[in-house]
Amino acid sequence: MYDELSKDEIKQRLGEYAATLVPAGSTIGLGTGTTVYWLIKELGNRVRKGLSCQVVPTSEATRKLAEDEGIRVVSLNDAGPIAVTIDGADEASFGFQLIKGGGAALLQEKMVAAASEKMIVIIGEDKHVPKLGKFPLPVEVIPAGWKPLVRKILATGAKEVILREKNDEPVLTDHGHYLLDCHYDVIDDPAALNTSLHLLPGVVETGLFIDMADTLVIGYSNGDIMREENIHSTGTGGIKS
Ligand code: 5RP
Repeated sequence: MYDELSKDEIKQRLGEYAATLVPAGSTIGLGTGTTVYWLIKELGNRVRKGLSCQVVPTSEATRKLAEDEGIRVVSLNDAGPIAVTIDGADEASFGFQLIKGGGAALLQEKMVAAASEKMIVIIGEDKHVPKLGKFPLPVEVIPAGWKPLVRKILATGAKEVILREKNDEPVLTDHGHYLLDCHYDVIDDPAALNTSLHLLPGVVETGLFIDMADTLVIGYSNGDIMREENIHSTGTGGIKS
């Protein structure tokens, strides 16, 4: 039992715990973000002590960090079967649907997760919600036509759609796209919204991960870590490799 842990302390405990879930000799998908940062650090420790594994990174940031830790990195094209992807999320619903992309890596995160046998999601208790939508939904779009897309996304029920910027410049994803952060407040039907957004020309990918999470590993401020298994899961998005 701990005194109240901060959100950052929960992330560290989750990341370090997640490293214990990496089977020896496996290929795993490695997510992106401040929770996964601790997974990569601990995986680096374990590799230096003799653990053999290789990772498929979901972003340039993760690739660099993993390489700096001496972890063997392979591309998605060269990886072969991926046993499990371990990633964070911005929100996970009680029904195991996710919002991801707060770290701008949603496209490759979804591609790597879809190529994996299983997806384990590591989140603090504050991100485990009855319904998605409080966190603005990131949507990755082609830069040449982002303004008309704002109007079309508003028509799907978003209250506000904001181009993600840093230092007054649009944030570019690893794949050279823009991100629109879409404020819905509550998303009643994530699967239907995901389909509607994908029908808009210029949308590359959405941060809605539908039926992809097999396991939620949830960290609590009292130090507990609980696992929730998705008994309805048929593999990441039903696209078992
Ligand atoms: C990056 C993501 C991250 O998994 C998500 O933003 C959670 O990040 P963090 O662990 O830093 O809170 O989707 O695109």
